[in-house]
Amino acid sequence: MNLAKSRAAFERSKLSHAGGVGNALRLVPDPFFIQYGSDSRMTDLDGNEYIDYVIGYGALILGHSPKVVNDAVIEQIAKGSMFGACCELEFMVSEEVVRMVPSIDLVRFSNSGSEALHFVLRLARAYTGREKVIKFEGHYHGWTDNLFISVKPLANMGLPNAPWKIRESPGLPENAADNLIILPWNNLEAVEKTLKNKGHEIAAVVLEPIMFNHGGIFPHEGYLAGLRELTSKFGVTLIFDEIVTGFRLALGGAQEYFGVTPDLTVFGKAFGGGYPIAGFGGRKEIMNLVATNQVPHMGTFNSNPLCLAAALATLRELSKDNGRVMRHISEMGAKLRKGLNQVFENSGFPMRATSSDPIFVVNSPVLELRDFRDYIKLDFDFIHRFHREMQLERVWFMQRGNFMLSAAHKEEDIEQTLDAARRVIKRLKGKK
Ligand SMILES: Cc1ncc(COP(=O)(O)O)c(C=O)c1O
Repeated sequence: MNLAKSRAAFERSKLSHAGGVGNALRLVPDPFFIQYGSDSRMTDLDGNEYIDYVIGYGALILGHSPKVVNDAVIEQIAKGSMFGACCELEFMVSEEVVRMVPSIDLVRFSNSGSEALHFVLRLARAYTGREKVIKFEGHYHGWTDNLFISVKPLANMGLPNAPWKIRESPGLPENAADNLIILPWNNLEAVEKTLKNKGHEIAAVVLEPIMFNHGGIFPHEGYLAGLRELTSKFGVTLIFDEIVTGFRLALGGAQEYFGVTPDLTVFGKAFGGGYPIAGFGGRKEIMNLVATNQVPHMGTFNSNPLCLAAALATLRELSKDNGRVMRHISEMGAKLRKGLNQVFENSGFPMRATSSDPIFVVNSPVLELRDFRDYIKLDFDFIHRFHREMQLERVWFMQRGNFMLSAAHKEEDIEQTLDAARRVIKRLKGKK
């Protein structure tokens, strides 16, 4: 595979752009540089065309450069890209969100998921008058000091039922984790015990409804409902981080999919159809603290009109014809996930594609995963080799095995991906 132009671009970029990449996730030995994206594909500087299942880390729910979003943004550019004042798009998008996500009475917008999560913890603390927050080991809620704790701890982890708090980066202050309590995922007893002992100190429980950042681990039957019951009982705010699941798993996100209603929700990625916008919202009683400015929500670029225009076009596209586009995304995901499993099973390959259809994860070997401690038993070298070989076949997904589908993926993409997987398995088995 010719990557000469990408390699040259990387060398040049490193001279001025730290590490030559814009995000720590892209800090791999041989990153490719993209020229353009179109529908389900993107093309690098050397002309290699990839079937893209990363799709902007999930942001490109309609695929690359979708016409409906382009048209909406171009129309808005002509009117102005930034006002620093109110505009009608704010309530037009808010009305869509409130209609689509029933637990949200009032909403505000921010520029990234990390920022929105940072703010909702403050909001939950203000609302409850308490300071501590329960976070689950292995869940990712952005990179702020508040929450970049025990995301992927690989050493000194403590006991499974009482994980130690591990700061994920040098530079996080020693007291960054003081107000967090880290618990294992899918263990209701651990949450109950903590709430019984310290419920009066706990402002919030925050979680990814499905642990997509590590393994795509589903909540066990009754687990989310159990969290809902326990948090209500102890007056604790239940926060769903739907940055990945929102406007993807269903129109109303994971809360619709599982039928469990949080107090506050954070969303981003797919919401903006590729533009940098996120948001948060929830029950009126809590959000009134924002509405009345008792908890000020600031930000120069909040509710940016270009991003709102992109979000409005995306939400309208996703919800048209009773969610036809969403159904297509799920259908394509199901075809690919099941197809891959068939290929893996037929060849005795120790890998499975699990989790949901609009987003799934390939894990190896085949293990029942309950929490982060199970996740780290996986064979990452092997998963990375599979990933690398698939890249050589021009199929691109996240190195940790996550595949995300978009409205632009078609049968042809799925068939080509399955053919590529067959060839890769043959090669990898040949090397054993
Ligand atoms: C579940 C989850 N929460 C929060 C974030 C942070 O969002 P952002 O990257 O927009 O800051 C991410 C990003 O990948 C995420 O996956």
